[in-house]
Amino acid sequence: MAAKVAPSLLSADFSCLRDEVKRIEEQGAEWVHLDIMDGHFVPSITIGPPVVKALRPHTELFMDAHLMVTDPEKQIKPFVEAGVDLLTVQYEATAHLDRVLRNIKAAGIKAGVALNPATPPGVLEYIWPLLDLVLVMSVNPGAGGQQFIPAVIPKIEAIAREIKARGLSTALEVDGGINRHNAREIIAAGATVLVAGSAVFKADNGMSLIREVSAFAHKA
Ligand code: DX5
Ligand code: ZN
Repeated sequence: MAAKVAPSLLSADFSCLRDEVKRIEEQGAEWVHLDIMDGHFVPSITIGPPVVKALRPHTELFMDAHLMVTDPEKQIKPFVEAGVDLLTVQYEATAHLDRVLRNIKAAGIKAGVALNPATPPGVLEYIWPLLDLVLVMSVNPGAGGQQFIPAVIPKIEAIAREIKARGLSTALEVDGGINRHNAREIIAAGATVLVAGSAVFKADNGMSLIREVSAFAHKA
């Protein structure tokens, strides 16, 4: 099964994001994960469209933006104009999920939904045709460097079964607490994209995780 790492810039050196993006490109990354926090859905504030727009001309990486913001409908246009390739919204952050997803697709980019650790997978039942990606949060959103919550493994398995049963090609991304010790198990459960922040940017030899994961995936 093909799987890849989407390095999260949240753990990169914010004083030189352009160089950090180059570093992951040189290691073979295809995606970059952008964690957008608004100080409301989660307490922290990170980056917004101006920073994304400034990076866009310097990389061809697929920009995977994870909106941890309330009222994500207000943010679609600014992020599309900034150049992201995929917008993922938190299920818990909007009362109008179907509309938000339709608006993202109508803007010409891919759409995803993120589920917090306590959110069951059944909430996806009526929106499958709109989804390019499902993001299973394996920590509670808000910060990098937290511990992986193993209880999400059966949820990853259930969503992977559902994607297969429906004959879809929806990407299944897992985000939070992923490192070289647990990556194999998460891929075995059915993940196709692993977000990794601190394990790539802050661990010794972290950059090599990007290539290691594609090797595990080919053996699986
Ligand atoms: C958490 C973010 C994650 C986080 C991952 O709110 O959505 O993308 O940065 O960081 P690590 O890999 O350090 O858990
Ligand atoms: Zn994220």
